[in-house]
Amino acid sequence: MSACKKYDTIVIGAGIAGLYLANKLPKSMNTIVLCKDIPWECNTFYAQGGIVTALDENDIPLHIEDTLSAGAYHNKVEAVEVLSRESIEVREDFVTRGMKFDLDKDGNLLYTKEAAHSRSRILHAGGDATGRYMHKFLMEQNHHKLQKNSLVYDLLIEDGRCYGVRLMVNYKPYTLYANSVVIASGGIGSLYQFNTNSRTVSADIHGICVEKGIELRDMEFMQFHPTVFVNTPFARKLLLTEALRGEGAWIVDDEGNRFLFDYDERGELASRDIVSRSIFLYKRERGKKAYLDFSMFEPKWFKQRFPNIDKTFANIGYDLPKDRVEISPAFHYANGGISCDIDGRVPGIKGLYVVGEAARTGVHGANRLASNSLLEGAVFAKKCAEAIVEDDNHIEKEPNFEKDYDTLLHQENDKEYKHQLRGIMWKDVGIVRTQSSLLEAKNFIYDTKSKNIGRLLELRLNTAAEIVRAALRREESLGSHYIEKD
Ligand code: SIN
Repeated sequence: MSACKKYDTIVIGAGIAGLYLANKLPKSMNTIVLCKDIPWECNTFYAQGGIVTALDENDIPLHIEDTLSAGAYHNKVEAVEVLSRESIEVREDFVTRGMKFDLDKDGNLLYTKEAAHSRSRILHAGGDATGRYMHKFLMEQNHHKLQKNSLVYDLLIEDGRCYGVRLMVNYKPYTLYANSVVIASGGIGSLYQFNTNSRTVSADIHGICVEKGIELRDMEFMQFHPTVFVNTPFARKLLLTEALRGEGAWIVDDEGNRFLFDYDERGELASRDIVSRSIFLYKRERGKKAYLDFSMFEPKWFKQRFPNIDKTFANIGYDLPKDRVEISPAFHYANGGISCDIDGRVPGIKGLYVVGEAARTGVHGANRLASNSLLEGAVFAKKCAEAIVEDDNHIEKEPNFEKDYDTLLHQENDKEYKHQLRGIMWKDVGIVRTQSSLLEAKNFIYDTKSKNIGRLLELRLNTAAEIVRAALRREESLGSHYIEKD
């Protein structure tokens, strides 16, 4: 890559939102997709359950209602309506272009159910490898330049206009200019000790936004997935898809007791915030463990329907569906994100857009409905691509951005501070918060910010501070933000 270059569009991130958006931009637009690591190190790749689509026109009001109800009616209704209405077109687009979703024996699309959906409306691929299949499909269809190992560490913003990015490519610094810059960098998973996210999802771009005064919204609403196997040494913990419960798996305690009904009459099929919180509270109050029990499944069917989970757990010594697996909730998804309008424009910054998990479109409200995220990524990426083509973002001349960065990207003690931050976010800003736990986290964050730290840690801390600030501001519990009195 040359040292300095100008593009029509820079897309930061190569998950579903970034790739689908790039796909919807004309080939004639000189576009580069930047991915931080190898392309498949993204949350899309690890998505198991599936992608929601309204089954037909009649299902749209029901899908909207399920999304609003899971989101504790904190959602932006206009965005939810767009999500659901456009879902049918997105499904047709994928299917006609050749995406292979799972089919029944007559060749019809197979739909599954997940928690808090009133109907089976979730498409899946490769059984439990929907994200992997969709990512591969989008990579194959990509007609723009894709640059690996590209770590963006600044947005070039001056006087209400974005001109490009500063980044390291293979550890070498570059400046790239563009008429339009799209943030599609995903959420904030690496801020939490237990999370299901790709290691690349570390809140850097959110942190840059905070630095530039760009608003993050709904950051108190962090989603914790209820069924995760956390007893592994790796940062990304092993997800056990919600589709397992949709198909009939149970959550039980040491004695095989289905305790979730003590908390919600829907039991395993209550929304994700309720199930996660119930597991957390039950373990805390009773001192017991929680397990996912699949023993009701016929082994041959299980291995076909959930082949990756079957293989992954066989590798660590489990014989599924016979064995039950100990579970814990873990951080999964940021419901909030970078402020934007319905087409992904970041208010007040011309030429800057945001899509996918990074964006706060308002569709998820206080808690995301299962499998709405891949759909959100595609629907709003398409709208954003249309906006980019429509908007007049042409830059005649860029200001000079060759400033020196007075902090290095990494400093010697960053690893230890990062580790401490992850522990504190999990313990104090996790499933159940109190004012004093949040204040403790706030103090740690500000103390650490005053130390000799690298830029990337500083950016993480910026984002963590915003999560804590939003959580402190909301004194009553709502959706995935649950606050207990001290
Ligand atoms: C899952 O498969 O349970 C995750 C799907 C999602 O995050 O919506």
